[in-house]
Amino acid sequence: MICKVTNKKIKPFMSFGRMPIANGFLKKNQFKKEYFYNLEVGFSKEISLFQLNNHPKPKQMFNKNYPFFTGSSKGMISHFKSYANWVKRKYISNLNYLIEIGSNDGTFLKNFKNTNVKTLGFEPSKNVANISRKRGIKTINQFFNFKNVKKNKNLKNKIDIITAANAICHIPDLKSLIKGIDFLLTRKGIFIFEEPYLGSMYKKTSYDQIYDEHIYMFSVSSIDKIFKKFGFELIDALEQKTHGGSMRYVIARNNIHKVNSNVKKKLKYEIKNNIHNLKGCLKFKKNCEQSKKKLLLKLKNIKTKDQKIAGYAATSKSTTILNYCGIGPEIIDYICDTTPEKINKYSPGMHIPIVSMNHFKKNMPYAAFLFAWNHKKEILKKEKIFNKKGKWLTHINL
Ligand code: SAH
Ligand code: TMP
Repeated sequence: MICKVTNKKIKPFMSFGRMPIANGFLKKNQFKKEYFYNLEVGFSKEISLFQLNNHPKPKQMFNKNYPFFTGSSKGMISHFKSYANWVKRKYISNLNYLIEIGSNDGTFLKNFKNTNVKTLGFEPSKNVANISRKRGIKTINQFFNFKNVKKNKNLKNKIDIITAANAICHIPDLKSLIKGIDFLLTRKGIFIFEEPYLGSMYKKTSYDQIYDEHIYMFSVSSIDKIFKKFGFELIDALEQKTHGGSMRYVIARNNIHKVNSNVKKKLKYEIKNNIHNLKGCLKFKKNCEQSKKKLLLKLKNIKTKDQKIAGYAATSKSTTILNYCGIGPEIIDYICDTTPEKINKYSPGMHIPIVSMNHFKKNMPYAAFLFAWNHKKEILKKEKIFNKKGKWLTHINL
């Protein structure tokens, strides 16, 4: 395989096997033409970048039927409120114009309404872009890349802050992304983004973070090295609790802003823990294989007692667990979810029925596999009856 940034050859170190589109929830009559690819991962030693080999084209995932809505989680709504408050506190004196990449349903940008900050979202998935427009948020329904960005000549070097969350790892062509950022940002401009953190994935063996939309699993080392190649520098890195452990990166043009001591500290931590090299990948691979064996044994033990298991939340992440471990409707009876777009469809690849939360309440299983483990606090708070009656399962130690 070829590294998507350096264009040099690298060897995939692990395969999760035949995989469908993670968010490709489908109806029975679509089973026959379901798309599959081989989910393989590789690591560029030169820039410490953990990446997918083959993956579906962005348009296959981000279109008018994108079924993920940031606002479906109360925890994320409150996270984005505090992310916006942090941006305001730190940068408001120099903040006139802010752009968000991957603005989804506008959950982050709506926090800038009733302020003097002008905002604009770039959001390729039409359904979610339309929701944010209805909320009065100016949104360009296009992919953020250099070709699309440069059409906006009036915005050249006019943007003080560009933000993103859980969107940059979805963009295969990072060179085009960074050229777009370079085009838009003022001299002192800042790019802030947060993404699931490779170090947290290693710690938890949460391999379900790996799926088609997550082309990259970033670390402080990789971000530092990538942006250096394009005249930018990493000036801060802050850990976040979201999505099972994320990192917020702050990027600026070279030698304009002070570099926070966090950066050095975190780079040192990554070197000490093999997050910057292939050794970490190979250990992770072993851990994944062990985790798969342990999980299958756990599920088999429940099934031999003829007890029912349900899945809780039809997350994109669950597609990797179910397909990698070969878990189908013979093991998990149904998966309940709050998203109307997923209900009455089937899970990608393994074809487990997706049902409403009402179904879960009326047909409580013996055990529920918490696929949305990153929203555990929020879910346990509202599932008081099941907490008493049933057993929660996860594939990782939380
Ligand atoms: N920021 C939100 C949404 C994350 S989901 C949150 O953290 O909850 C990822 C979003 O990025 C999707 O809405 C998807 O349509 C969008 N996206 C994917 N590729 C993109 C690109 N090249 N430019 C802008 N947005 C993109
Ligand atoms: P994601 O892990 O791909 O981001 O998707 C989260 C999914 O979890 C989404 O389909 C909504 C669902 N969900 C519930 O069903 N109940 C909940 O309480 C929460 C927080 C999420």
